[in-house]
Amino acid sequence: MTTTPQEELEQVASQAEAAVSLAETTAEIDAAEVHYLGRKGLLTGLLRLVGTLPSTEKAVFGQAVNARKEALTAAIAEKKTRLANAERDSYLKADAVDVTLPGRPVTAGRLHPLTQQMAGVKAALMSMGYSFREYPDIEDYHYNFQTLNYPPDHPAFDEQMSFYVDARHLLRTQTTAFQAHVMEAQKPPIRAATVGRCYRYEAVDATHLHTFHQVDLLAVDEGLTLADLKGTFAHFVRLLFGDVEIRFRPDFFPFVEPGVEVAIRWGTRWLELGGAGMVHPNILEAMGIDTERYTGFAWGLGVDRITMSQYGIDDIRLLFDNDLRFLRQF
Ligand code: FA5
Repeated sequence: MTTTPQEELEQVASQAEAAVSLAETTAEIDAAEVHYLGRKGLLTGLLRLVGTLPSTEKAVFGQAVNARKEALTAAIAEKKTRLANAERDSYLKADAVDVTLPGRPVTAGRLHPLTQQMAGVKAALMSMGYSFREYPDIEDYHYNFQTLNYPPDHPAFDEQMSFYVDARHLLRTQTTAFQAHVMEAQKPPIRAATVGRCYRYEAVDATHLHTFHQVDLLAVDEGLTLADLKGTFAHFVRLLFGDVEIRFRPDFFPFVEPGVEVAIRWGTRWLELGGAGMVHPNILEAMGIDTERYTGFAWGLGVDRITMSQYGIDDIRLLFDNDLRFLRQF
């Protein structure tokens, strides 16, 4: 039994309709389009049959194929739009952002309390006419000790108390090491200061660290006396702490004569901030400064201790633990 072109057209057309209605994705509908309407598609193939038919049938069959083709083209276009919309919707749904969720907070950073403190100390002394310089943490023992009038057998030279890098160089134990650098570069009058890290081989406890910070000051001019040191310190303390009592007690450092320990009243206690005194004449003379004409005063204070007292911190180690719960308070 042979099928007529008309029957074949009906068959292909109903297959095509089924394919269109079964397609579930745009990829499937695209494939169906190619399969029936493409250049080598089944319906396209039927159009080519027209030429083989007797002329009486040509027109009728040709119109029938074209009608099927138009109907199929329309059905495919409609289905394509529907599937494409559905696919876009489900993609958007999967990729959705819930704009009602609370945002993630962006926390602003801030300066470490010690950095704030050092900036405060610097601003105070600069407002009093002191200029700041910086020197390396690794220092020649010549500057750390020798130029500071230490006797040759002073225990501070001891390796047990300092971190030596080689036979000549060590991590500076005090910012007072800056004095000879300043006096080599500049003649009096001098108003100089420095702030930075110091290192000591030290048992760490609530008030001692192996790495800490000092601020040192040096003034050399005509007619300076202990009264100028006292007034300068009192003014500095007032700028930083407001109206607090200050205390001077005799102390010994090889580089000052007389030497004092300076403290401030903090609550019920005296808080020792550091050492101070009149620059030893040996130091000025070694730097070629006429001690008949010039005198000087100097101090070295612990910045970490100043910070502790300002904020009521009872353990210096908290400043270096980098615990955000602690640091967020400042
Ligand atoms: C000195 O270092 C002298 N250079 C100070 C000085 C300068 C005196 C100029 C006279 C003239 P001292 O070792 O006392 O002195 O230290 C001064 C301050 O540094 C101390 O009062 C303390 O506040 C701080 N400091 C010293 N060692 C430590 C440490 N291990 N941890 C934390 N702070 C320290």
